Amino acid sequence: MEKIIEEKKQGKPLALEANPNNTRKLYIESYGCQMNFSDSEIVASILSKEGYNTTDTLEDADLVLVNTCSIRDKAEQTVRKRLQKYNAVKAINPKMKVGVLGCMAERLKAKFLDEEKIVDMVVGPDAYKDIPNLLAEVEDGHNAVNVILSKDETYGDISPVRLNSNGVTAFVTITRGCDNMCTFCVVPFTRGRERSRDPYSILEEIQQLADQGFKEVTLLGQNVDSYLWYGGGLKKDFKKASKMAKATAVDFAQLLHKVANAQPHMRVRFATSNPQDISDDVLHAIAAHRNICKYIHLPVQSGSDRILQEMNRLHTRKEYMALIERIRTIIPDCAISQDMITGFPTETEEDHQDTLSLMEFVKYDLGFMFAYSERPGTLAARKLPDDVPEPIKKRRLAEIIALQRDHGLERTQAFVGKTVEILIEKESHRSDQHWSGRTTQSTVAVFPKEHYKAGDYVMVRIEDCTAATLIGTAIGYSDMEQPLMTETVA
Ligand code: SAH
Ligand code: F3S
Repeated sequence: MEKIIEEKKQGKPLALEANPNNTRKLYIESYGCQMNFSDSEIVASILSKEGYNTTDTLEDADLVLVNTCSIRDKAEQTVRKRLQKYNAVKAINPKMKVGVLGCMAERLKAKFLDEEKIVDMVVGPDAYKDIPNLLAEVEDGHNAVNVILSKDETYGDISPVRLNSNGVTAFVTITRGCDNMCTFCVVPFTRGRERSRDPYSILEEIQQLADQGFKEVTLLGQNVDSYLWYGGGLKKDFKKASKMAKATAVDFAQLLHKVANAQPHMRVRFATSNPQDISDDVLHAIAAHRNICKYIHLPVQSGSDRILQEMNRLHTRKEYMALIERIRTIIPDCAISQDMITGFPTETEEDHQDTLSLMEFVKYDLGFMFAYSERPGTLAARKLPDDVPEPIKKRRLAEIIALQRDHGLERTQAFVGKTVEILIEKESHRSDQHWSGRTTQSTVAVFPKEHYKAGDYVMVRIEDCTAATLIGTAIGYSDMEQPLMTETVA
């Protein structure tokens, strides 16, 4: 899930729509996964009703919020640096209030108020609706904290204010929390148990996006394949649901069919998939709809069975390879990307070789690779010493990154000479004469603008490439611009 965010500029909180009656200014910055960026849009919506419009100038803000990430130590250090920056601005403008949102707020709770004296408010990921009350506390001169995790909060009733938007692509959250308990991961502790959002509120939000001219949605969850709507509540309580609720439950494959059928002119993406939970029904749903993108982000973390087990990833190497083969059979043109952790406790050279050989087997289109970072409170931190020396972690990481670069280049080279459909997203950051968009496989393509505009579906002949980008020329509109016949599967 990290991926698309790293391509996006962090910060830059300008909203698409501003309320002319609002007089106060909110500066909101987001770090980490797409879910945080999406949550910040919910927070901006809640605060819009409290009289705040967003600003992209820190110095102008009445309220500064930072939506934080705890996934690795480095992510937390980045946020601490930003807090120092806010502190410097607050020294000039003491009326400015500072709030910490998201995973670091949840992990450190009230400790934040003591450690970071400049913080006025600490709000966990399930408590954003309480922000107006917390702000009232802050106005009264008190510090305010709410880090209560919820079993049913999905913010399904809040219509997000789109921040930093290109007007073409948007995120829509479909599940919150995670029940998987991978031993390295802090997310189950910071985002709580898994719950799914009402499909009708999802469809409504996407309809609003369509009405505003958006052309692509990415359905977000820590583990989208485990989406299950049965009338509300935690996923783990589904067993106790009534017969009626069970009979009318909606799973992820059914949700994909509903979204794809409702919006035949919109592209549908999703992230993140978990190998242990993705079903063949989901693969068939992707294959059945022209507008569901042929791209699966399928983190594996390691190619070694022993390490997978220590990580509590509930599949083996062999099962993962079988899944890859099923994807290749059911969706022949599907791109696959990975997340990989190197230097997990006890990882040997042999385990590392298993990771490299798995990569050779899959030849991922794209990858996000990290050195293991011990997170306090996780099972791995409690049970396993962080025993792979830093230089070895770094060397293994470099080998994995180099191999991924080779595979990425092989994948992009295979596009050269082909003509592919691109949805134009924005101006290329390298040239104001070129558009940047993506193939259904999520590969970035750039080409001369000509008369086309952002949001158009165009056919582009690919003439050249780098390891991550296709370069070509548009040859006309795609038939996605025309009324479409899509399969209607219930
Ligand atoms: N299911 C989530 C995973 C979130 S974390 C999703 O939607 O993407 C994103 C990635 O960060 C993980 O897949 C993993 O590769 C990496 N990661 C998580 N915890 C980590 C840790 N302690 N050290 C290093 N990398 C980690
Ligand atoms: Fe983390 Fe594993 Fe869930 S990586 S978010 S516990 S699927």
